Order: sequence, then structure tokens, then C-alpha cells
Amino acid sequence: MRRIQKLGYLLLTASLSPRELFQQQAEWLAAARDRLLRRAGIGRRKSILDLGCGPGAVTEELARRCGGTVVALDHRAGAFGEGAGCFGASRCVCGDARRLPFGDGVCDLVFSQFSLLWMDAGAVVPEIARVLRPDGVCVALEPDYGGMIEHPPEIALQQVWVDALTRAGADPCIGRKLPSVFARAGFSVQVDFLDRLFPPAAARYDLLAGLPLTPEEQKTVQSRRAAEEKTPGAEIVVFLPLFLITATKSSAGNGLISDT
Ligand SMILES: C[S@@+](CC[C@H](N)C(=O)[O-])C[C@H]1O[C@@H](n2cnc3c(N)ncnc32)[C@H](O)[C@@H]1O
Repeated sequence: MRRIQKLGYLLLTASLSPRELFQQQAEWLAAARDRLLRRAGIGRRKSILDLGCGPGAVTEELARRCGGTVVALDHRAGAFGEGAGCFGASRCVCGDARRLPFGDGVCDLVFSQFSLLWMDAGAVVPEIARVLRPDGVCVALEPDYGGMIEHPPEIALQQVWVDALTRAGADPCIGRKLPSVFARAGFSVQVDFLDRLFPPAAARYDLLAGLPLTPEEQKTVQSRRAAEEKTPGAEIVVFLPLFLITATKSSAGNGLISDT
């Protein structure tokens, strides 16, 4: 698996560092994130958890905007390596989201961006519910690669994304599953979507190159990339659905989907 991944890196020439890639992704999502965080009342939130913070592409923004402290959590200690001063967070914690190393009801906002995709959401969301205070909010921006729209067909890579993410241990269709996962954990759930189409970002090839690609998939990616280079930009559509979730922990437990 590691050999395939290394080959993928070489052939697709990943030019940006993981932090730079995640920063680009964070920029792409800035407007949507701003809407969700404002709705969640970030300015008055005192205790925020950045769940699966990775190299901290959003941590600093959370720290700047909140009215209290931010704890950045990731299960890979190496994720914090590139950040000076813990990306502006009060604390960086190395821990597993399935067993959060915090007491009950200590957070009032949990933030996740492209993180639940990599986790066992069925185990993590009840943990989020446990550490949140009543009326605390979880804001999650998570993709659904199963719903990708690409045009023209010569540039389509949806199947490669789905297969490679699955092979890497992620759930590529996590977006569509999250509303019910949050509702079952006692949250009231609101789901929004991106309100506009963005030009396709070349950085997505670098993200793809970081996944364990088979030699066959590497060839497919190269030929799709070559086709994209020959296609006028205005003719290209690459749309990745993002589930923009605001999940409020309600004492009544009235979620989107009723168990009765
Ligand atoms: C794609 S990165 C997202 C980084 C960041 N949220 C962002 O938007 O730039 C997903 C992160 O989740 C972390 N992760 C995956 N499973 C985890 C778990 N069970 N507990 C804690 N962190 C986990 C990974 O180490 C990785 O850094």
C-alpha cells in the first residue's frame, strides 16, 4: 500500500505541502464556513474543539473568532509538527475522537471539516454529544464523493476518488449519512449546501496523489489530467457536494429523524 502511495506521489508530482493543500481547501470553503460559524454564534462560544485539526488550516481562524479558547485535537501527533504555537489554539491534544479525552459537557462548539470522513462517525458523533453542553453546536463540513458531478466525461475521476478513499480507510459518501447519525445521537440537524459552483482547482490532483492509487488508477488520473489541459476552462464542471451541517444538541433530543 505504501509503495503504491509513493508511486502516486512521484507520478502526479504533488507540489504543495499537506498544510498548503489544506489551506487551499479551507480558502475554498471560507464563505460557507463563515455562514455556519456565524449561525452557531462563534463569537459567544467559550470552549471550542477543532476535531481532526490536521495541520491546523482552520484552527487559527476559530481561535481568532471565538470568545474563549480552542483545543485542537488530532490522533496523529505529527499533525501538529508544522504549526508554531499550536496554530493559535490554547492547546493541541493528541487523542482519538472515538474516546475524547475530555469530561462531559465541557465544550460549547465542536468543529469538523473534512474530518468525520476519516473517522468512524457512528462512534464519534455520540462522543461529540457527550462533550457538548446542552444547546452546544457541532458544525461539520463534510463531502460526498458519491454525488460528484463532472463534465465532460473525459475528465471524470469520481470512481478513482471513491475507490482510493475507501482503500485509504475513509468513507467517501459520509455526507449523506451524517444527518441521520447526528439525529440518532439526539441532535437537531440543519443541512445546507454550497450555493455556487467553483472553478476546478488543480490542487485536487495533489490531494488525489496523496491517496493510495493503483498503477491503473495512476494512468487514469494522468489521462484525465491531460484531457483537462486540452479542454477550455469554461467547459469544465467539477462539483463535489459538501454537506454543511449545523447540529444542535437539544435536551429534548428532537432530531431530524424520529426513531418512533
Ligand atoms: C483531512 S484531515 C482534515 C484536517 C482539517 N480539519 C482541515 O480542514 O484542514 C483529517 C484529520 O482527521 C484526523 N483523524 C482521523 N481519524 C481520527 C481520529 N479517530 N481521532 C482524531 N483525529 C483523527 C487525521 O489525522 C487528519 O489529520
